[in-house]
Amino acid sequence: MYWLGIDIGTGGSRALLVDAFGKVKAAVTVAHEDMRMDQPLWAEQRPENWWDASSKAVRQVLQDAGVNGGEVRGVGLSGQMHGLTLLDEKDDIVRPALIWCDQRSQAQVDWVNQTATPAFVLAQTANPMLTGFTLPKLLWVREHEPSQYARIRKVLLPKDYIRFQLTGEYVSDVSDASGTGLFDVVNRRWAFELADKLGVDRSLLPAVVESSAVSGRVTAKAAALTGLAEGTPVYGGAGDQAASAAGNGIVESGIVSCTLGTSGVVFAHLDQPAYDAAGRVHTFCHSVTGAWHVMGVTQGAGLSLQWFRNQLAPGMSYDDMTAEAAAGSPVGSQGLFWLPYLMGERTPHLDATIRGGWIGLTAKHTRADMIRALIEGVSYSQMDCLQIIEQMGAAVSTVRLSGGGAKSAFWKQMLADVFQKPVAVLETQEGSAYGAALLSMVGTGEFASLAECAKAVIREVERIEPNAAVGEVYAEGHGKYQALYPALKGRWS
Ligand code: XUL
Repeated sequence: MYWLGIDIGTGGSRALLVDAFGKVKAAVTVAHEDMRMDQPLWAEQRPENWWDASSKAVRQVLQDAGVNGGEVRGVGLSGQMHGLTLLDEKDDIVRPALIWCDQRSQAQVDWVNQTATPAFVLAQTANPMLTGFTLPKLLWVREHEPSQYARIRKVLLPKDYIRFQLTGEYVSDVSDASGTGLFDVVNRRWAFELADKLGVDRSLLPAVVESSAVSGRVTAKAAALTGLAEGTPVYGGAGDQAASAAGNGIVESGIVSCTLGTSGVVFAHLDQPAYDAAGRVHTFCHSVTGAWHVMGVTQGAGLSLQWFRNQLAPGMSYDDMTAEAAAGSPVGSQGLFWLPYLMGERTPHLDATIRGGWIGLTAKHTRADMIRALIEGVSYSQMDCLQIIEQMGAAVSTVRLSGGGAKSAFWKQMLADVFQKPVAVLETQEGSAYGAALLSMVGTGEFASLAECAKAVIREVERIEPNAAVGEVYAEGHGKYQALYPALKGRWS
């Protein structure tokens, strides 16, 4: 028997099959259309394209593995968080989704704070309101596109639109719902009182389940399209970070993960909800039933490298980039710094208007310095996240790496040196799609809990120790990097 994880990423949709031992049998990614950025800080994707890509990925992975739909016991979902997917009364898409990194909604965040007060928002949702969250995006549509807003009957998150296509059900899970800005994270239910205060109709919100609970079953129509069997249970699943944490075994206190995808996220498990008073990190429900997590987010992590490659070095691979940086530039990039604020920044600044760039360029600097500075800047930003999480009292013995950054020996060592913590890499580095599949294994009763599942299937295969001397150079660089933001703050607002 097999379990299927489906992850709706930013760049593509991935379908991944695991066997009863948690081993990956096959995986397929189908790329998405590029996100549309019609204005600076806007980011949109077409949900129809996510379904097209994910249904193709599912059909292909079954075919590649030679697995019959009837052999799949359960499906778990994961996806990019915070995206605003709008359905009308015919269940058609109202407009393209405003996705996680869209930052257009500062005016709506300000309005929420004026109307409901920051204290009420915090009491209701356990987080401050942020431009990245779903609610201000919905309010932007209400303000700027009232006729579209009037058509909305359901507001879904990206993976929950795929669930709707698979099962016909409108359901989210507690971890993904936590990132809407409209979820009572402490009590694991919608923050209906906040919705009422802001005039958002409660009926727009889907049902919510825990990540390993059944949310619906594959319909005949979806079965015909994907090759899955009609009636296959689809489990709650999780936002990509909580799903990735399930796949990385971040299911009890002590181990922390760092996931370097388009965004970069440092993630820790919490037994009880805990907050950073300044709201610099998010406190959300975990995909572990009855647990929470805290995470810090660098908006432009892998995005910094992708942007550099697309704009300045077409044809260069990520391996070429790290090789050039490693060979051609010393620790500290000869005093050059990269500020990864290509889509504003979340942790630690919560600033949608800050802009990125290199600072400290001289004629002596080379392209290798520019690339190294870029990787160092993202690492410093991830260090900001880790420091806040440690200050909140989370124990950090090891940092488990995943995502694209975990593939580069150069970046792995840099993170160990910047963090001054051992960094570990897992046997299965599949992240969110893998975690989604594991959540469905817990759902079908293959494991009693995610902790039990993690003990059985997750293994560290590489451990990189930090170099203390190099760490001192990075600590000095990190201090200089931290001094740059206050000097630039407010210049683009
Ligand atoms: C988490 C976040 C990103 C997106 C895209 O808060 O915004 O991880 O989910 O991956």
